[in-house]
Amino acid sequence: MMKVTRAEFVTSSTHYKDCPPGNYPEYAFMGRSNVGKSSLINMLTGYGKLAKTSSSPGKTQLINHFLINQSWYLADLPGFGFAKVSKKIKQGWEKMIKNYLINRENLVCSFFLIDSRHEPLKNDLETLQWFGEQGLPFAIIFTKADKLGASKLEASLSAYKKELAKQWEPLPDIFISSSETKRGRDDILAFINQYNNQVQR
Ligand code: GTP
Ligand code: MG
Repeated sequence: MMKVTRAEFVTSSTHYKDCPPGNYPEYAFMGRSNVGKSSLINMLTGYGKLAKTSSSPGKTQLINHFLINQSWYLADLPGFGFAKVSKKIKQGWEKMIKNYLINRENLVCSFFLIDSRHEPLKNDLETLQWFGEQGLPFAIIFTKADKLGASKLEASLSAYKKELAKQWEPLPDIFISSSETKRGRDDILAFINQYNNQVQR
């Protein structure tokens, strides 16, 4: 099992060109505001205050890089949609994020986070479609699993998968997480580790 022995904040960037040198494999966390991106980064690394979290949407406004075990990056991105900022700012973020995703050459895989409780949203499905069109590897993480009982969680996820199946065959890689219970931690870290081994060989 991969252990996180070191995790450090590197820098915040407004533009992909300002990001740190792309000399390590990188994994990005994206999804709507408040879905739990920053919390998940803290849960995965075991460093509780690494990424700043907040109960009000729109906390993360820049591309934040964290260097893990001195050998790979996690990138915490601002949320799409939802955040209480002007439409213009939202569009600016969206453009910044898409530019980053397309141009960041060491980006290995993006994690697209979806709140386990939510029904499929048009905007999220469109973003996933966009990933497909761009040929960008991604995996889906259903977050906040602790907020639902087992049967409701099951029902919610199978409804979502049914919707995804209209678009994806086979389905993308899917993880279930909770930053409260640490559910999903081992699986997601193992997934990253597998990619790291492929890339660094
Ligand atoms: P932005 O930076 O605004 O885009 O949000 P974010 O996606 O980074 O979300 P963040 O990690 O800041 O979490 C938002 C809120 O959800 C916080 O109040 C967290 O404590 C809460 N939260 C995040 N993950 C979980 C989880 O797995 N379970 C529960 N119960 N709460 C969570
Ligand atoms: Mg955040």
